Amino acid sequence: MKNFVCLNLVCFGMLLSSCSQPGEPGRESFNQQWSFFLGTPEKAEDPDFDDSGWRLLNLPHDWSIEGKFSGDNPATPGGGALPGGTGWYRKSFTLPASAEGKKVFIDFDGVYCNSEVWINGQYLGIRPNGYISFRYELTPYLRFGSSKNVIAVKVDNSRQPNSRWYSGSGIYRNVWLVTTGNVYIDNWGTYITTPEITSNEAIVAVVNKIKNSGNESTDIEVKTMLYDSASMLVASATARVNIGGTEFGETDQQLKVPDPRLWSVSDPYLYRLVTQVFSKNEMTDKYTASVGIRSFSFDAEKGFTLNGKSMKIYGVCNHHDLGALGAAVNIRALERQLEILKEMGCNGIRTSHNPPAPELLDLCDRMGFIVIDEAFDMWKKPKNKYDYHLNWDEWHERDMRDQVLRDRNHPSVFVWSIGNEVPEQWFAPRGSSGQTDSSGLVIARELAAIVRSVDATRPITFGADQVQGKSNAVIQSGAIDIIGYNYRHPFWKEVHAKWDKKPFIATESASAFGSRGDYTMPSDVIMRAGQGNQNLSPDHTASSYDNFSAVWASTHEESLKEFFRLDYMAGTFVWTGWDYLGEPTPYWWPSRSSYFGIIDLAGFPKDAYYLYQSVWTDKPVLHILPHWNWKQGETVDVWAYYNNADEVELFLNGKSLGVKKKSGDDMHVMWRTQFEPGTISAVSRKDGKTVLTRETRTAGMPSKIMMAADRQTILADGQDLSFVTVKILDEAGNLVPHADNLVNFTVSGEGFIAGVDNGFQASDEPFKADYRKAYNGLCLVILQSKGSSGNITLTATSEGLEEAEVSIKVK
Ligand code: GAL
Repeated sequence: MKNFVCLNLVCFGMLLSSCSQPGEPGRESFNQQWSFFLGTPEKAEDPDFDDSGWRLLNLPHDWSIEGKFSGDNPATPGGGALPGGTGWYRKSFTLPASAEGKKVFIDFDGVYCNSEVWINGQYLGIRPNGYISFRYELTPYLRFGSSKNVIAVKVDNSRQPNSRWYSGSGIYRNVWLVTTGNVYIDNWGTYITTPEITSNEAIVAVVNKIKNSGNESTDIEVKTMLYDSASMLVASATARVNIGGTEFGETDQQLKVPDPRLWSVSDPYLYRLVTQVFSKNEMTDKYTASVGIRSFSFDAEKGFTLNGKSMKIYGVCNHHDLGALGAAVNIRALERQLEILKEMGCNGIRTSHNPPAPELLDLCDRMGFIVIDEAFDMWKKPKNKYDYHLNWDEWHERDMRDQVLRDRNHPSVFVWSIGNEVPEQWFAPRGSSGQTDSSGLVIARELAAIVRSVDATRPITFGADQVQGKSNAVIQSGAIDIIGYNYRHPFWKEVHAKWDKKPFIATESASAFGSRGDYTMPSDVIMRAGQGNQNLSPDHTASSYDNFSAVWASTHEESLKEFFRLDYMAGTFVWTGWDYLGEPTPYWWPSRSSYFGIIDLAGFPKDAYYLYQSVWTDKPVLHILPHWNWKQGETVDVWAYYNNADEVELFLNGKSLGVKKKSGDDMHVMWRTQFEPGTISAVSRKDGKTVLTRETRTAGMPSKIMMAADRQTILADGQDLSFVTVKILDEAGNLVPHADNLVNFTVSGEGFIAGVDNGFQASDEPFKADYRKAYNGLCLVILQSKGSSGNITLTATSEGLEEAEVSIKVK
């Protein structure tokens, strides 16, 4: 047995190193050295087209994020107020002579939108959906040896508006070149499930759909190995099948895993599966995947259970943009988003309202998040003039199926969502009477059937915002397994009572507004607003006391309280974890990004972050707000979020303002006081003993800049990032809470500035720049590796302030 393990480990090592050999089976990044042109050149698909004047860049790339904000951009502030347009990408490449006779495919993880692709002048196809992954086979049109191949991609995001949030434009996700032999696993043709799990043994079932593209029938051998996280082989299986020429065959393998270590949100343990396909003793294809072994259930009364243990899903909804980086996918930027959320106690992500980047799911597998993987924001009826409803008839079936095929092996994916608040959920169109429309019944059943035809191991939900009153057509269809309800927590009980056999999750909750570091008194009056309320606050800020939400929604605390009262609530997904570009409710231009995030666009937590942390985690929390720079004698409300303690005492310049305890299910305490400069401090106590202390001092005038990088060493891979927080401090080192100094940056060494931000929703400064005004004392610089090792030094200067420097290593 030992020998067998070693042998396989050697193979595994050899296999990994063979990945990068040109012409060998494997997948290589195809991101480097593309030429890009923004516009509509004639005949750019022609291989001989002269693109020497085009800009050279590496993918992923989003051209919209490089543009200027304007209220006149056709995307509208709802779509992020950045330009769209049509862009072209071209790439020349050669393939080794040894690749001749092999199969070669190109995989696009996502192109926004309406992409059309040509290889050597040959048209391969169009894919309208901007979030779906797709593959083209290049084999018949390729040249080998020293002859050049040219791939051309047209991306048409000119018809606007087509999205309710910022979409980005271009080849904004990764591109891969895949090489196989004549016998290969069909795209997304491996299906891994874990049908039986006990504490002694788990079965990992692996089905492979294999294509024999040769003309003659062939004996195929499929070897599958499962390794633990220390790369030790824990199970393996070999299957043999004869597949006729140009036909598909299937193998079905069962691997027995002794003493399985289960995947959970606190211990997201992953096994590694490697499948190799052999034909005539030659390895012609291989597939690797992470495998998580976990069981779960959603119950109408008990809520959610993971591996037999009852738990609540503390989730957030997020859109796909990465703030200043736009839609261009970056693993470290995604990882940072998840790290900050995890620290808050979040354990769930809803990929609102579209298929995510595959890398997001890889990270959720590895970091322990429960994902609702969502397909659509609209079906056949529009939400925007040029949105996906135009493509619905021709593409929805294919897009729905492809999403599930692509994502079904991710252990983090627990639920499929077939849509969000589609107009078809209304039997009668909103606002009209008498008319009925039952198309929602039909479409919901059709989509659910497509999902179940390729994965029946996960439940299906839908983000509904019409449930009370007339029955919701999508729920009424019987097609969905879990009621997913957006907002309106006062109706949760009624909805649950009405659909009492179905599990229940809040697919969206809160939709509360906030601008980091802005506060308006009084704090104990709850305000609601819809979209376009330009006059709420002339400077387009939203108070960060948790007392301000959308009219259809609630404050964070309001919906959290109801969530914790109801045992059957399996989970809640707060709208949203992070601010995102577009949908600047309650305002409109010059606001161009959302106010809904618990974390601002730059990644700085708003105060609500500590509310969630205090009720979603066990780690001790004491957070006081607001800052301590007010007018003498002004009435100020001081809030504290805390846990693991019985009480909090507040002091102003050493004088007690009293002890407060949360009453009932309240989640914060408040003192109302008159401002005097100095120090506001708090102490939380349990059984009379101090748990935590916090203090905020009145800051003086801005005096110096301070910078801190989130990581001191990054990889020299051309992609890795370091996020540098820039603070404006007074002489004594206090953050100056209203500082808006313009900071200029210079960078030297092996990195460049990938973006700057300050989290303010109505800033019209560009994200691609070497300067940024601070917003409420903070701004952010994102440093990216150029691709070589060395150091990066960033210097920050600002008129009248002491400058700062930070250096990081690139390895
Ligand atoms: C929901 C919708 C989300 C977002 C949110 C803002 O109704 O599903 O996409 O628009 O409202 O509150």
